Amino acid sequence: MLRFATVAELRAFLKQARSRRQSVGLVPTMGALHEGHLSLMRTAAAENDIVVATIFVNPTQFGPNEDFATYPRKLEEDACLAAEAGVTALFHPPVEEIYRPGNATWVEVTGSLTENLCGRTRPGHFRGVTTVVSRLFNIVQPDRAYFGQKDAQQVQVLKRMTQDLCFDIELRVLPIVRESDGLAMSSRNAYLSAAERQAALVLSRSLAEARCLVAAGERDTQAIVAAVTAFIQSEPLAVIDYVELVHPDDLMPRERLADAGLLALAVRIGKTRLIDNILLEVAACS
Ligand code: PAF
Repeated sequence: MLRFATVAELRAFLKQARSRRQSVGLVPTMGALHEGHLSLMRTAAAENDIVVATIFVNPTQFGPNEDFATYPRKLEEDACLAAEAGVTALFHPPVEEIYRPGNATWVEVTGSLTENLCGRTRPGHFRGVTTVVSRLFNIVQPDRAYFGQKDAQQVQVLKRMTQDLCFDIELRVLPIVRESDGLAMSSRNAYLSAAERQAALVLSRSLAEARCLVAAGERDTQAIVAAVTAFIQSEPLAVIDYVELVHPDDLMPRERLADAGLLALAVRIGKTRLIDNILLEVAACS
């Protein structure tokens, strides 16, 4: 696996690959790789001639009181995992390589896609995500880019950005990867104490409860949200940021569940904010 820290070096490598007509898959990450990231990398390796993975803890997507400083950084360990997962080139730039001094350009998707759900308690987060991902798209110009469904809102925001900015890139969205007991894999799980790790199961269990309610015929979205909220509140270590049942495409609430709804959660377990979601498909649940 090759490693690059500058845009110029990565571009020179990609120019050669393109002259050989090789297809390129991009897997953007912030590192502290887990099975969720590795599943993206393995799929990218199966679907493309070349896989570029990026490890960049993007400062602009963290709020002032968030965990940018403490976010786990494990570059050497990550490099071994990425190589094993079939990555051809690992790009791990310093901050100045992505945000040049005097940077004055931002990419922002406006409206309900970024204002709802995580947008409410993390103002500016998606602006940071779209700014960095658009830069990575411009640098790498991949044929395909890979993201996890765990960040369901991020996926919708990036789909809109890709359409609106006419990027000729196929976005591939892969399922949430879970631990054997149901906890969605996340780099932030590393922050949890043993008791918090146990308490964190309330997220995936509450989603399973919702699935049962829909299977039993419940279609009133407020009733589903109320039941999930009560379930999470029964865990003393859990503090709800939001529980929302929205349309999977526009992320706007609906009164009744029609074909499908995205049930999305953000819950604090101690100091750690975790997210999870499930697509509730009426046909699949009944
Ligand atoms: O999903 C993430 O890890 C990040 O938001 C991303 C897409 C790598 C942008 O920094």
